Amino acid sequence: MSIKHFLQFNDLSREELLYVFERTRIIKSQFKAYQQYWPLQDRTLVMIFEKASTRTRLSFEAGMQQLGGSAIYLNTRDSQLGRGEPVEDAAQVISRMSDIVMIRTFEQEIIERFAANSRVPVVNGLTNEYHPCQILADIFTYIEQRGSIQGKTVAWIGDSNNVCNTWLQAAEVLDFNVHVSTPPGYEVEPERANLYGNNHFEVFADPMDAARGAHLVTTDVWTSMGFEAENEERLRDFVDWQVDADMMHVAAADALFMHCLPAHRGEEVSAEVIDGRQSVVWDEAENRLHVQKALMEYLLLGKV
Ligand code: CP
Ligand code: NVA
Repeated sequence: MSIKHFLQFNDLSREELLYVFERTRIIKSQFKAYQQYWPLQDRTLVMIFEKASTRTRLSFEAGMQQLGGSAIYLNTRDSQLGRGEPVEDAAQVISRMSDIVMIRTFEQEIIERFAANSRVPVVNGLTNEYHPCQILADIFTYIEQRGSIQGKTVAWIGDSNNVCNTWLQAAEVLDFNVHVSTPPGYEVEPERANLYGNNHFEVFADPMDAARGAHLVTTDVWTSMGFEAENEERLRDFVDWQVDADMMHVAAADALFMHCLPAHRGEEVSAEVIDGRQSVVWDEAENRLHVQKALMEYLLLGKV
């Protein structure tokens, strides 16, 4: 099998994604039943972090161990990457000593250069542009709770960031709709989101209009990692883009609320919503573990 990377959501076809979701369901239920499953025995995952993480590190590291393999954590501060070693050289070396690599970094271009020089699959653990593993978990969570996402409406409220861009790609591949509302000046850039352009999203000036009738309402921090210098300005610009109970009321009666976490209660979401009955944020976080196990299995072993 030629090397398969997961650098952005649309690197996998609809058929492959549905396969990964089905494997996730099986791997999760076996795990819950304490059944040992070690298909990646003697395989090594290297995780490279240039930004902070709780969920991504934990879920990849625990997931690889649960599949019988091992995981090594590297961060920019204490590897040669932080001292200017070219990413191409790092990719050559790291991929000769491991079986799969996960990277969390800044520009998408960095992970693409790494992948172009890697002998093993590379997985995007978040870049400035995309967060594909997050949306895998989110859509799996939706399917678990409500069934197929095809034809459904997702409301994205807030910043047109990496998580938003990935929802937009996912809508095209899996055929659902995204209603986006961002403050002026923070609009979606379709080129940056790398969309096929087949109109699976609609823009709304008023976030209440974006949420109206939606089957899933989701948001994320107003200031993503790497954009901290803009924090003060963003706090002012995003003040009307909080997901609160009024917004959830105009969504479909059985709408779910999702947030990739970490969250800021009182900023992008009210405590009432994130801690309320429609919120599935803890399942969403847990499912990072299960979908990424299915993803690593697929990238390394193909269909089993
Ligand atoms: N959602 C997510 O990726 O969380 P971490 O930043 O904690 O990894
Ligand atoms: N958009 C956020 C997601 C964190 C998981 C960030 O990039 O910081």
